Amino acid sequence: MKSYSIALIPGDGIGRDVTGATWTVLETVAKRSGFALTGTEFPWSCRFFKEAGRMMPENGIETLRSFDAILLGAVGWPSEVPDSVSLHGLLLPIRKAFVQYANIRPHRLLPGVTGPLRAESFDILCIRENTEGEYSGAGGRVHQATLDEVAVETSIFTRAGVERILRFGFEQARARRGKLASVTKSNAQKYSMVFWDEITRKLAAEYTDVEVMSYHVDALAARMIMAPESLDVVVASNLFGDILTDIGAAIQGGLGYAASANINPDRSAPSMFEPVHGSAPDIAHLGIANPIAAIWSGAMMLDHLGETDAASRVMKALEATTTRGIGTLAGKDRTDAITAAVVAALT
Ligand code: NAD
Ligand code: IPM
Ligand code: MN
Repeated sequence: MKSYSIALIPGDGIGRDVTGATWTVLETVAKRSGFALTGTEFPWSCRFFKEAGRMMPENGIETLRSFDAILLGAVGWPSEVPDSVSLHGLLLPIRKAFVQYANIRPHRLLPGVTGPLRAESFDILCIRENTEGEYSGAGGRVHQATLDEVAVETSIFTRAGVERILRFGFEQARARRGKLASVTKSNAQKYSMVFWDEITRKLAAEYTDVEVMSYHVDALAARMIMAPESLDVVVASNLFGDILTDIGAAIQGGLGYAASANINPDRSAPSMFEPVHGSAPDIAHLGIANPIAAIWSGAMMLDHLGETDAASRVMKALEATTTRGIGTLAGKDRTDAITAAVVAALT
């Protein structure tokens, strides 16, 4: 029997609840589909930090490298550990070390879920650059705590980094409805985003079957709300993609529905699957976190592992659940009840 080794990092807050829910669904579908999933749980989190003084052990990255995939809940407990410490100690290093340069985030309404918009028929795939750009981590502070203090945080855009994410975007557009929106801000950022636009144009000459449009990020943010049905694949830099995908989450009904996959496209290291949302300290411990975003991310993991039939069964079960009105209103159904309904709907 085919078997996959999965590293489970539930993390903090509701990350723990939604990862547990996802694992229950994945184990069930694996059994029914005739393959095995072996989960190894790592307690790396802000709680771990309080004891160990770090978010993961020194050899954490090397430990994860041998797994087929990583399933992550959420990281962050800002009242105990500053976010700048916790995220730079766990989530962000994994994305970078494993060259998970394509962060894929689908935005569409599941049946029965009402979003805040009149438009109901949008289907957007956001492709976010995930290893460099505004998140490069280059910078520093000098003259700290004086009136002369300076903070510098430099975005780094490399030709290799920009070209590979744009190419990934063109490929996704080619496989879908043939439309690509390349997100820029070259009216203000005259080096990095002009560079981004140039490479967009260079690749457009190669992908003549893809209709590509460049949009400034502010205009695209408005378009996602005013005319989301006009968008197919959206490709953006790290920070632009981060912000746009919370808009994507909002228009699909909320963060409880927004899934994401951090993909290493050449498969030289494991990819990581996690919902877009964070640890939600405001509702942690209440048992009301919506697990749908995390379960959807789990389906993306099965797809990446090549278990496409199991992946589509999980998606069908999610859709059957929301069609019945379960998990469609914030706080109405408990995490466990939604999970049980998804498991019951699995064919
Ligand atoms: P958040 O996504 O945790 O929460 C934002 C709002 O959405 C909250 O009101 C929350 O209750 C709600 N929400 C989120 N997920 C939900 C779900 N599944 N079901 C129902 N409601 C849900 O964002 P935040 O409050 O800005 O961040 C909290 C912590 O999480 C911070 O430490 C932040 O840095 C971290 N964070 C981590 C990740 C990650 O690990 N990938 C992502 C975003 C934020
Ligand atoms: C996300 C999150 C992270 C990001 C944070 C927690 C660092 O917001 O995955 O969208 O900005 O990438
Ligand atoms: Mn985000």
